[in-house]
Amino acid sequence: TTGIVVAVDGTSGSGKSSTCRGVAVRLGLRYLDTGAMYRAMTWWMLEQGVDVHDPAAVAARSGEPVIDSGTDPAGPTIHVDGHDVGAAIRTEQVTGSVSPVSTVPEVRTRLVELQRAEIAAALEGAGIVVEGRDIGSVVAPEAPVKLYLTADPAARARRRAAEEGGTDVAAVEKSLRGRDEIDSGRAVSPLTMAEGAVHLDTTPYTLEEVVDLVVGLVEAVE
Ligand code: C5P
Repeated sequence: TTGIVVAVDGTSGSGKSSTCRGVAVRLGLRYLDTGAMYRAMTWWMLEQGVDVHDPAAVAARSGEPVIDSGTDPAGPTIHVDGHDVGAAIRTEQVTGSVSPVSTVPEVRTRLVELQRAEIAAALEGAGIVVEGRDIGSVVAPEAPVKLYLTADPAARARRRAAEEGGTDVAAVEKSLRGRDEIDSGRAVSPLTMAEGAVHLDTTPYTLEEVVDLVVGLVEAVE
């Protein structure tokens, strides 16, 4: 294969999604949002009435939902059992429950398997930008380009609140920090800077500047 894998990890709201989509569009790569897959799993658990704070209950049902990711960076999609859940996975209820669901090892094993299949398929072509928390460390440790994106929590909260249409900035900052804490503290595949990753603090840059920087890094290894 000749395709490239660009692994992008980082904290919640650091601009990962917009950056990754921008880079993938510019370079003609596929785009995989693994956070959307954890959100889809969480949405399904909530739909089924599974107690998301009971790891054994979550583990027992983790093999059931059929999760399908569309990897076009111009319009990524996510389906569960054939339903388009693109909007449903962004509700406060899902956002508030996704980190505990993501700590369950059986959930991670299942989704990592799906993610590796998407990567393998994309490597038949030009390649893929993969976004998450454990991409450079666990999902694709062999990726030739690894990034670790962070941003100042207050700046992240302002951005996210603006995206969500003027929701309470302090509440958004609290929610982002809470997710970062669980994501960084969990036993299995915690959010961490992968070996060989380039750390980029996006706080002072515009989206366009960050995309330019990352495109430059990818072109340098090709
Ligand atoms: O990226 P996004 O904010 O949509 O991710 C939602 C949640 O999914 C994260 O807070 C984290 O708990 C989980 N996640 C994960 N591993 C990934 C991607 C996301 O645990 N690779």
